[in-house]
Amino acid sequence: AMVNSISTNNPQNVTDYPNNNTYFLVWNFKEGLTTAQIKPVFQRLCALVINLNNSALDRFPESKASCVVGIGYDAWLQLELPKPLPKELKNFEAITGGKHTAVATKGDLHFHIRSDVKSFAFDMSSIIADCMNEIAYCVVEVQGFRYWDSRSILGFVDGTENPHGTDRDYFAVIGEQDPAYKGGSYQFVQKYLHDLDAWKSLSVEEQEKVIGRSRTHDIEMSDDVKPKNAHIALANVGDDLKIVRDNMPFGNVATNEMGTYFICYASTFTTVEKMLRNMFIGNPVGNSDRILDFSIATTGSLFFVPSLDMLNDFAG
Ligand code: HEM
Repeated sequence: AMVNSISTNNPQNVTDYPNNNTYFLVWNFKEGLTTAQIKPVFQRLCALVINLNNSALDRFPESKASCVVGIGYDAWLQLELPKPLPKELKNFEAITGGKHTAVATKGDLHFHIRSDVKSFAFDMSSIIADCMNEIAYCVVEVQGFRYWDSRSILGFVDGTENPHGTDRDYFAVIGEQDPAYKGGSYQFVQKYLHDLDAWKSLSVEEQEKVIGRSRTHDIEMSDDVKPKNAHIALANVGDDLKIVRDNMPFGNVATNEMGTYFICYASTFTTVEKMLRNMFIGNPVGNSDRILDFSIATTGSLFFVPSLDMLNDFAG
């Protein structure tokens, strides 16, 4: 979406294509602050996000830099933002299966900062931090990077079955189903850590059965060959129920903290929940996603991404 064009219900840059560098930041408001203390900083922040996006677009269009801000349920109430709330905005509740759990963790504000040029993502992040530090703590920071041809560090291309073209807006941006929040989007995130030692001990053939696609050429297995517990067998909940994903890998060799930051945008959170239930509880129950044997979700939070126009209203 063009961030500086004038029209109502203009979305934030939720359908931007993946690029090379991403900062994922989760902030929680400091305890004991009143709405009167938080609100003015939040208003400045909204103006800042709009400014950063416009300035990036004007000065370095080829960097494809953008910043999307999402607001959690608790934060929405604390900031006294409009009521009734976006229809599906709530605190994400843990989804517990027999073997795996999609944990729920607190998140007041989420920043999804993308740029082909890392300097830009870094500057945006630190400018936002300067504003936020007064009222909040940064509880998650993940610096994601593009790994080869858009692979997760498991070695498989991640993102292939994402919607393209106008389908991206259709699946990611709220339309008539919630007129008061048209142009908004549900943003769901999870920070996954991978057990790469266990993963690397599998043969390529075995890894392919976990994902449901070939590793080198990223070709989908036919339905008669694809195991029922393959990731794509469980995450695919139908052609009319899609989401826009922009996961990024991250890795730190000293701490061996390596993983995938899962992020998606959806016009309805129900679709995401359906995927998560399939993966964590299983379909049928007990047939859970084998990718989870090698991946632990350490965070899980739902945010609402208001349209740019609404963000502009929030800026006061
Ligand atoms: C597909 C990786 C978590 C939803 C894929 C693919 C890979 C992948 C490699 C195949 C290529 C593609 O179409 O993108 C991962 C990793 C995850 C993760 C490494 C975290 C450890 C999730 C979660 C969801 C999800 C939590 C949903 C809530 C999907 C969907 C597809 C997909 C919808 C496309 C299925 C299809 O229609 O073929 N993922 N994924 N993934 N993933 Fe994930």
